[in-house]
Amino acid sequence: MAGRIPKQFIDELLARTDIVDVIDARVPLKKAGKDYKACCPFHEEKTPSFTVSADKQFFHCFGCGVHGSAIGFLMDYEHMGFVEAVEELATRAGLALPQEVQTTTESSADTGADLFEVMRDAARFYRQQLREHPQSARAVDYLKKRGITGEIAHEFGLGFAPDGWDNLLRVLGKEDTQRAVLARAGLAVKKDTAGYYDRFRDRVMFPIEDYRGRIVAFGGRIIDKGEPKYLNSPETPLFHKGRELYGLYHAREAIKRENRVLVVEGYMDVVALAQFGVDFAVATLGTATTRDHLDRLFRHAPEVIFCFDGDRAGRDAAWRAMENALTILREGRQASFLFLPEGEDPDTLIRQEGREAFLARLQSASPLPDYLFSTLVQQVDLGRLDGRARLVELARPLLSKMPGGVLRQMMLDRLAELSRVDVDKLGTFTGVQEPSLSSKSGPRPFGNPREPPSVVRLAIAMLLQRPELVTKVKDEHELAKLDLPGMPLFLELQRLLQTSPGLKSAAAIIENFRDSEHHPHLAKLAFWQHPALEQDVEAEFNGVIDRLSETSAKQRTARLLQKQDAVGLDQTEKDELARLLMLKKNTSRPSSPPH
Ligand code: UTP
Ligand code: MN
Repeated sequence: MAGRIPKQFIDELLARTDIVDVIDARVPLKKAGKDYKACCPFHEEKTPSFTVSADKQFFHCFGCGVHGSAIGFLMDYEHMGFVEAVEELATRAGLALPQEVQTTTESSADTGADLFEVMRDAARFYRQQLREHPQSARAVDYLKKRGITGEIAHEFGLGFAPDGWDNLLRVLGKEDTQRAVLARAGLAVKKDTAGYYDRFRDRVMFPIEDYRGRIVAFGGRIIDKGEPKYLNSPETPLFHKGRELYGLYHAREAIKRENRVLVVEGYMDVVALAQFGVDFAVATLGTATTRDHLDRLFRHAPEVIFCFDGDRAGRDAAWRAMENALTILREGRQASFLFLPEGEDPDTLIRQEGREAFLARLQSASPLPDYLFSTLVQQVDLGRLDGRARLVELARPLLSKMPGGVLRQMMLDRLAELSRVDVDKLGTFTGVQEPSLSSKSGPRPFGNPREPPSVVRLAIAMLLQRPELVTKVKDEHELAKLDLPGMPLFLELQRLLQTSPGLKSAAAIIENFRDSEHHPHLAKLAFWQHPALEQDVEAEFNGVIDRLSETSAKQRTARLLQKQDAVGLDQTEKDELARLLMLKKNTSRPSSPPH
């Protein structure tokens, strides 16, 4: 996602944004020294350890470890996606989004804005028709028959598209350009011959809102019987089915309050549940639950409960949702699965049995691990050795989708128990091996964390906290040859700062590493406190660079000497060695790392 927005734009955006304002508007901050503090909005605490630095344009909580730039804050606090957060800050800063973003998402001067507007106008038109059209009684009676109150219909903005080919076109499509906009918004369809006709005719209309409450699509239900039962907006510049969730904007406060979100299958389910006070439900739009959906849902709440019909189709949909959920499941996130009796859906059930009984059903939803294993266990005979082997075989591809961590380890333990295979052996069979604590794998740019902070680490922290120091880096070519943990990152950082002198805050720098494995390390270093970072930083930095150059020279000398003994040196190498040995004589003073 991040790749779509040019880095220069992000740099510019962060240069024009003050993170203190962005956060203070949501979490009131108090000045503390040169930073600002508040009780952390991401975990419970009594004494403020959430710190916002104006210099670094970065926030960091010393309690729970969350951190980030203004973009990261909006993503975490407002549950926005990366592009959404960028959009929000750009609007605030009065910056026009770059072309690349406009074409892939929305809101360019000549497309997005007028599309949103026409959707709003259309929604108003449909609502008005539900009240005033001579034939609206059909729709009103239908909604009444389904038990929908006027109040809830109003709350969800339900409307009526009257029968006929041009009801909407006559009102909103008087001019050619307007008709083209209606077509682009998916509200009108262009005929093969000439002209347009209304897409939605004789249907009850459900407006679909995006994460900011802007109408991006409609679902239209046929009144009584007919095909298709629901006609939805096509994919448009505003609407991507696999991303939006019906009712999410409406439910956002309730989801926050409940700390959980319920995912159901139908528009009517969301509306009926809300009418009965189960107001934290959303629906996918006739598609499977996608990764995008899940990312969005888990940004809103740590617990997602899927509710499916008990029929075959419902079970298949649940299994697919489970497979997608596995890939982003980790400690602190829960997914559960609830199956309803065949022939029922949340709409019919809550009307029959009421709110309390429905909520009790939610309590009995199966946690994802239970659902996964019980489904697999039904497919094998655990009493047989080859049945248990089959279980391992079935679980293997699923568990290998999970990110590493405690949760996956626990799932492996469960599999070991069920299959009666030793958990260590299981690791090899499933290809899902947890690194033991002593041999933790993964990138560790600074070597063993228990070792004292390295000079490279200090150099990186200095550049992050005082980017202007980059002009003091000497002997880049020597440094580039230096083989030390963290050095590639230092060089990457140095090159970035040289080529983008506009990067003035740690936050802006770190945004350039958003998709990099180094991101968490950099975030930590941005707030690292070290005496060398407190005063006389420039002199300290020169000292650090000198030391790195020295180490580089030493390494190079050792390598050349080794080569000399083994295969001999060519003339350039001989010259270099001579130069290095001279240098060594001149600089062989005692020196210690500056920490
Ligand atoms: P359902 O048929 O279960 O919908 O389809 P429902 O909400 O219970 O419908 P009612 O109660 O008969 O009014 C679930 C969802 O699948 C999509 C819609 O999003 C619907 O809410 N769907 C269904 C379509 O997009 N088109 C269809 O023709 C049918
Ligand atoms: Mn239904």
